[in-house]
Amino acid sequence: MTIRLIAARSRNGVIGRDGDMPWHLPEDLKYFKRTTMGHPMIMGRRTFDSMGALPGRRSIVITRQPDWHADGVEVASSLDHALALVGDDDVFVVGGAQIYAQALPFADEILLTEIDREVEGDTFFLELAADRWLESSRDQQSGFAWVTYERAVPRATLVLGDRVGRQAGQKIGSSVAVLHDGRLLVTRREDNSLWCLPGGGIDPGETFAEAAAREALEETGIQVEVESVLAVYTDPDVVVRSRDGAKLTQTYGVCFRARLISGTPGLSDEVTEVAWVDADEASRLPFIPLHRKLVRAAFDPADAPTLFV
Ligand SMILES: NC(=O)c1ccc[n+]([C@@H]2O[C@H](COP(=O)([O-])OP(=O)(O)OC[C@H]3O[C@@H](n4cnc5c(N)ncnc54)[C@H](OP(=O)(O)O)[C@@H]3O)[C@@H](O)[C@H]2O)c1
Repeated sequence: MTIRLIAARSRNGVIGRDGDMPWHLPEDLKYFKRTTMGHPMIMGRRTFDSMGALPGRRSIVITRQPDWHADGVEVASSLDHALALVGDDDVFVVGGAQIYAQALPFADEILLTEIDREVEGDTFFLELAADRWLESSRDQQSGFAWVTYERAVPRATLVLGDRVGRQAGQKIGSSVAVLHDGRLLVTRREDNSLWCLPGGGIDPGETFAEAAAREALEETGIQVEVESVLAVYTDPDVVVRSRDGAKLTQTYGVCFRARLISGTPGLSDEVTEVAWVDADEASRLPFIPLHRKLVRAAFDPADAPTLFV
């Protein structure tokens, strides 16, 4: 599934005025038609109101109105829902501004008609960060250009099956907060001498929980049982998809609350020190930045809500 945004924008960023397009460019409408023909299109309800259902293409309209319907279109309650309806097909997100903004993090390509003049309007396209979106082609026409932008850095995609596993480009991590008699198990890393919770990258075929328990065993020699999710920490550029392409979530790693089952923490190749610390002692140790919030949260009551970092 390739997700493409397609839009026409004036030099000052305008894409709409009074619920409609502020220009009439027949050549661009033909380009839109031949580019999107045969592919599903996702749009916001307001954009649907301005252009209706177009022949030869599935139209999926996103609305918050539970009873909304229109002939010839499918209705979705969110962008996730719309993408789930699309399945594996390549899809075009055709606007408007609200839907472009929500879809941009997932987009693979942006097809932009850049109109060579300033136009008055009330709806604007997004600013494309120059370090994230690179112009890959430009087809100059009279008064406008068809421009394609591609991601400067490919989005990492992790395919989730029954078990969590395959990683691309970015490290997907998992860690454990093991609390025992009010003290938290912490380890000192070999590579930068900072303190952290036991944990590491997920191997192919592992679940997050299995990876966390394995890392605790490999790093410190103890056996733990994962009990609940303490925190989910994210990197906004990592996109995780289920195998059927239905759900798009962004995640980087999970930290679990875990219980000590057996063993006494010892050293390994990866850790130069291990310690059981109380909250006060933990507050004085230099932790890797990502784990600072996790360590504080580890001392919260076990039924505290999952932390999103
Ligand atoms: N130049 C171009 O290429 C281009 C392309 C497309 C559109 N446009 C223009 O852009 C303007 C419309 O853009 P817009 O930003 O005002 O509206 P829009 O994105 O087309 O639609 C907004 C509507 O989508 C629904 N929606 C948005 N986020 C949602 C969410 N998270 N969950 C569920 N529903 C959600 C809501 O519908 P409900 O209110 O029904 O709940 C919301 O009012 C028009 O002027 C149009 O002509 C220009």
